[in-house]
Amino acid sequence: MSDARFATDARARFPVRAEFLPYALPSVGAEEIAEVVDTLRSGWVTTGPKVKRFESMFADYVQSANAISTNSCTAGLHTALTALHIGPGDEVVLPTLTFCATANVVVHLGATPVLVDVGDDLNVMPEAIEAAITHRTKAIVPVHFGGQACDLEAILAIAERYRLPVVADAAHAVGATYRGRRLGCDREANGRVASRLISVFSFYATKNMTTGEGGMITTADNELAVRMRLLALHGMSHDAWRRYSKGGAWSYEVVAAGFKYNMTDIQAALGIHQLSKLNDFIAVRQRYARLYDEAFADLPELATPITHADRSHCYHLYVIRLDLSRLSIDRAQFIEELTLRNVGASVHFIPVHLHPFYREHFGYRRGDIVGAERTYDRIVSLPLYPRMTERDVQYVADVVRDIVTLHRR
Ligand SMILES: Cc1ncc(COP(=O)(O)O)c(C=O)c1O
Repeated sequence: MSDARFATDARARFPVRAEFLPYALPSVGAEEIAEVVDTLRSGWVTTGPKVKRFESMFADYVQSANAISTNSCTAGLHTALTALHIGPGDEVVLPTLTFCATANVVVHLGATPVLVDVGDDLNVMPEAIEAAITHRTKAIVPVHFGGQACDLEAILAIAERYRLPVVADAAHAVGATYRGRRLGCDREANGRVASRLISVFSFYATKNMTTGEGGMITTADNELAVRMRLLALHGMSHDAWRRYSKGGAWSYEVVAAGFKYNMTDIQAALGIHQLSKLNDFIAVRQRYARLYDEAFADLPELATPITHADRSHCYHLYVIRLDLSRLSIDRAQFIEELTLRNVGASVHFIPVHLHPFYREHFGYRRGDIVGAERTYDRIVSLPLYPRMTERDVQYVADVVRDIVTLHRR
């Protein structure tokens, strides 16, 4: 290849691109920038009219009666579990293959995270959830892994049987659908009101849409919604916007020891435009995912993401699973080879039960949750985001093929 942007690396026989391709980058356009500037000029930079607008747009988008913004998904999960009165002595069942935040918030409340296994689609197995339920279980926290819904209907059926609330960690999955409805919708696939369900989304920088940092909680339960809104802002009965705008009352009451978890109008300014663009972002992610799927179809050394016909995958992550028995390198070396060829990659996730804190405080050991451990050893998340060009996607696909060919057993 004679392209000046490529230079052949000594170790990789491959023509390596000159610039590093980051693992993830947000797509922030002129509309977001103008809206943030407008917010700064308006004099109202904290929670105000733009947060209300963003919440209302989000509620419409997912079809929920209540959308409560927070300054992160972690804050949203903490708020939801607090509103459900999770506390010392309680157990909360969640998958081990998740970001530490899903488990950390349970620990913050003095409760015990009970970590369970995931299937080949990287989503939590409903039967593993059910097997972990005891008389101490007070909530189920499934994760919609990588942007594809977990088996929500099966999990809600378990929740119904054991009369448990479900706080779905939807950090990856804004815009994904399950049986025709967007995650966060107030109705289940069968049309019933999802009265046991709270969903919590993330707008962190790498997510499918971003507010820099930010989160959103949705629920059909109006009473819980009121409580979560209170808890997310000091437990105060009136928010600042209502107090300080014309006609607002100066008086307020603190009815719970709440948190400082509110979203700002600066964040919402980003969110309003990111949400308008979300379906287009997802369409690009899905197109790029198909390109990867096709490019890897003839490589037995790796498996592409498993998808389900009753769910639309919004591809927050594109996770390949290496067949280590067919390769002479391990996953860490595979990622080194990617880096050598100027491709950023990541791993989602180190199972929670393998982290020192969880080993030391809850007695977990390697060997306790074998499916997730075996999966962890072989997963690599490839770059996939709308700012990539089709040429970038093709480059990553070529790089993966080169590494596999070079290190085939
Ligand atoms: C599965 C999962 N849950 C929760 C979070 C926390 O999200 P946030 O950074 O918005 O608090 C993340 C963040 O990456 C995540 O991946």
